[in-house]
Amino acid sequence: MCGIIGVTGDPEALGILLEGLHRLEYRGYDSAGVALVVAGDEIWRKRRAGGTKSLPELVAAVGDAPRGVACGIGHNWWATHGGPTERNAHPHTDASGKLALVHNGIIDNYRELAATLPQGGAELTSDTDSEVLAHYVAGKMATGLGLADAVRSALRDVHGKFSIGVVHVDEPELIVGARRGSPLICGLNDTTAFLASDIPAIHGKADEFFVIDDERVVELTPGAVRITTLLGDEVEPERREVTWNLASAEKGGYPDFMLKEIHEQPDAVRDTLLGRIDNGVVALDSTELTEEDLRRIDKIFVVGCGTSFNAGLVGELAIEHWAKVPVKSEVASEFRYRDPVLTPTSLVVAISQSGESLDTMEAVTFAKRQSAKVLTVCNVVDSSMARDSDAVIYTHAGPEICVASTKTHVAQIAALNLLALQLAQARGTLYPEEAAHLVRDLQLVPDKIAAAMAQSGHVKAVAEKYRDIRDVFFIGRQVGRALAQEGALKLKELSYVRAEAYPAGELKHGPIALIEEGTLVVAIATKSRLLDKIISNIQEVKARGASILAIATDDGDGNVDPRIADLADDVFSVPYAGHELFTPMVDVVPLQLFAYYLAKARGNDVDKPRNLAKTVTVE
Ligand code: M6R
Repeated sequence: MCGIIGVTGDPEALGILLEGLHRLEYRGYDSAGVALVVAGDEIWRKRRAGGTKSLPELVAAVGDAPRGVACGIGHNWWATHGGPTERNAHPHTDASGKLALVHNGIIDNYRELAATLPQGGAELTSDTDSEVLAHYVAGKMATGLGLADAVRSALRDVHGKFSIGVVHVDEPELIVGARRGSPLICGLNDTTAFLASDIPAIHGKADEFFVIDDERVVELTPGAVRITTLLGDEVEPERREVTWNLASAEKGGYPDFMLKEIHEQPDAVRDTLLGRIDNGVVALDSTELTEEDLRRIDKIFVVGCGTSFNAGLVGELAIEHWAKVPVKSEVASEFRYRDPVLTPTSLVVAISQSGESLDTMEAVTFAKRQSAKVLTVCNVVDSSMARDSDAVIYTHAGPEICVASTKTHVAQIAALNLLALQLAQARGTLYPEEAAHLVRDLQLVPDKIAAAMAQSGHVKAVAEKYRDIRDVFFIGRQVGRALAQEGALKLKELSYVRAEAYPAGELKHGPIALIEEGTLVVAIATKSRLLDKIISNIQEVKARGASILAIATDDGDGNVDPRIADLADDVFSVPYAGHELFTPMVDVVPLQLFAYYLAKARGNDVDKPRNLAKTVTVE
């Protein structure tokens, strides 16, 4: 939620800032802005607001920027305080126009801080909490402190979450950054230093990258980094390894990141399994929970948001099925507010692509406070959640840029299946031969995902047929229900079509009243123990006039169950994934493609859907 970029030491700073903002657009696009530090003068600043047009308009408007300025900061915004207008856009300046600040997060006590400003903050020009902080830091400088000391002093008074970048014309080579609960990293080459919300923003520019921990302040000058606590005690900068290359964070010939990332799914699952299966036995590298810990667990909570939560629903079924431990999955934003009963033998499995979603992070903090063990399934190495948990299973899906998650979802399901199988091994609830057979099938899933992609052209044609659809129901049972939820979420967020998911057996208890002639029902009718029942549910809605789009299992000869072929108006066939609990990784492919092509047919921006941001770091 919001992207921050800063650079000092390069006369092409403006170009680097704009390119960084482009790479960080997935974090928010309600506005875009840059500020350059013109030594001894005022801050030069340009901002534009207007959804996905913000950045192109900013780029078109910077023609009057002063040449050769080597230090500046920039920001993409996902609006929280105040509407997405130019006056609320970052960077914010103080009253003198000599200090500029960019901020990601929420300052909880901004009203109290504003009350301490001259005339109670009468000089504020925006509705944002962030501008208050800019004025507050300037107030500290007015007492004689340098920029870095002023930031440290100001932040000691701040309640809330933040990552910030601050510059001042009196110290024209210095960028001060700081972090509490929102992501921030920095990088260096011989002559330049960079600050950013995420590595892709400065990949290829910096030669080495450094972690900035919570409650730390970073001072960047050309080619140098200094990190301190909020009290000013120096801390050794910790290097961060980056194993992927820039090409993996670029489109690579695809029209959008989403299509590219859908096509990367076989590799995402393959890489997530890699090195974690040895001779038919699951051996998770990155969990620091001992076999004894795994045996002692008597209750598991699976928490996450959005697509990660939907992956968790599959995890719940897999763990209960194989490891026979009671599991409850729950959206992270609800979990900590309902007094869940946690003990030292409870395990909380937190699922998050970014490892930074505030709701999930707070669930992790809550669980740890209640003495439960926490295991995070996460895609971003060294993310806040990964660092705060007892154990981590990284999904090795590579950087995911499209706001809608695809490849990290299938990688999460692969990781959760591995976890379920390892728990089963440790607890003796599966025979070794049975486990070995399952992991062999799991290793074949990437090829099945690739095969499911082959019917992309057919999915596109069907999606275009439903271009003007208004209401869609997704129905399924067990893992099919989790898949229905994910299919509906993808369709909603990309195409803005009202889409609801129901356990298929629940329809008759009320929602079936909404079915009328032409309502589209997407039925997950792939091979499962409950296939006969879902076919009955399809008949129920068909009888009331619904159009049926079925996801069905190909028998290997290009045919699906004849009952489904008879009932459905359209069928997306998929290969069988080898076990019911593996099917969501394969069956989700046509649902992702359906949402993608329907959104494209409606002229939507699939990589940057309206009102969304990739990482949600507010409650
Ligand atoms: O980074 P996280 O996995 O914690 O993010 C969770 C959700 O915000 C995310 O899955 C969201 O629902 C996506 N837009 C789904 O495509």
